[in-house]
Amino acid sequence: MGVLSVVLRALRPGTTVVVVATGALVLTGCAGSSLSQSGGEQAAGAVKIGLLVPLSGVYAPLGEDMRNGFQLYLDQHGGKLGGSTAEVVSADEGEGPQTGVPAAQKLVTQDQVTAVVGVVNSATALGLRDFFHESKKPLLIANAGANDITGARKSEYVWRTSFANGKVSAALGAAVAKEVKGDVYLIAADYAAGKEMVAGFRKTFEAAGGKVAGEKYTPFGKTQDFQPFLSAIRGSGAKAVYSFYAGAEAVSFVKQYRQFGLADGTPLYGTGFLTEGGVLDAQGEAAAGVKTSLHYSTELDTPRNKEFVAAYRKAYNEAPTVYAVQAYDSAAVLDKALPKAPGGTGDELVKALGGVGPVDSPRGQWSFGADQDAEQKYYLREVRSSGGTVVNAVVGELSAVQ
Ligand code: BEZ
Repeated sequence: MGVLSVVLRALRPGTTVVVVATGALVLTGCAGSSLSQSGGEQAAGAVKIGLLVPLSGVYAPLGEDMRNGFQLYLDQHGGKLGGSTAEVVSADEGEGPQTGVPAAQKLVTQDQVTAVVGVVNSATALGLRDFFHESKKPLLIANAGANDITGARKSEYVWRTSFANGKVSAALGAAVAKEVKGDVYLIAADYAAGKEMVAGFRKTFEAAGGKVAGEKYTPFGKTQDFQPFLSAIRGSGAKAVYSFYAGAEAVSFVKQYRQFGLADGTPLYGTGFLTEGGVLDAQGEAAAGVKTSLHYSTELDTPRNKEFVAAYRKAYNEAPTVYAVQAYDSAAVLDKALPKAPGGTGDELVKALGGVGPVDSPRGQWSFGADQDAEQKYYLREVRSSGGTVVNAVVGELSAVQ
């Protein structure tokens, strides 16, 4: 964890932080519901970007990874985006739209940022869509996978450098149907992302002949004891389980799955968030054998990824995550698009986003599709021991499902 992380961890939710090009921190606002004083001024030759990620709540560690990824890109590019010095104004998404929407509104109306990057939670993304559409301000979603954001409620002002819930989960369905001889139980956090992950998986799983043993949603952000749900899984006679959890919930679920004695006879599958980064470190050997689909692994054996992993480790003394990569790539995309938006208007910038072309990312090359979502490869990963630790070994490539 870098100095930036240590300082930000100590901040109360709502605090606004400006990270200037050198990585130095300037506190510019007040905590809680009071208004930030950062104002809308932007230094000549500078571009102001809002970074909206959870600094508090169940997904705070994901937000920290995203800040680190974004900052690493700046550090590697002289603190500049599109030739202008980047001023990053950070705001707390918290646990959902109740906190995330007002924080985004402040970034746009008060801090007058050129664009906002971030958003972890699907419910926050859905709550933000109309605000960005009506303000004509670009939002680059660097995690939240809500399907409608690039589907039924697509806006020319909202772009996504991460994934759609329905796609990252659908990528795994056919592989599980082929591998598991018997019914599979589906379990996920009870909110927009959990529902969409299960639906995406179910669609391709059933299409490939798979049968569902049961489906259950656990209260989001509140479930610490998974025993009653694990008993229901055992009682169902399922031969395997598919799940969506991330952050602290993923740690508890996977550890308790092992402690309950299910891991040996009932293989656990999920989207890669289940075993990503600090979550996997905390799960340790309890996660051995868990198989997931994701568009990134630290273990991708490419020169681009090796270089990225080494730089990230050097900067933060830990391995990167998909969340860090998504934010790093958002900075890369802005770097390419901003020179084509000299007036700094939302309309100019979103037009430029449409022309950024392929992104040379640690995850592999990807580009924006017509739906303004990342078109990319999905990998099949398996948690294995390696060098005294556990990693998400890449064991195959999965077909992308549109
Ligand atoms: C989501 O809410 O979209 C989400 C949150 C954490 C990991 C993956 C997806």
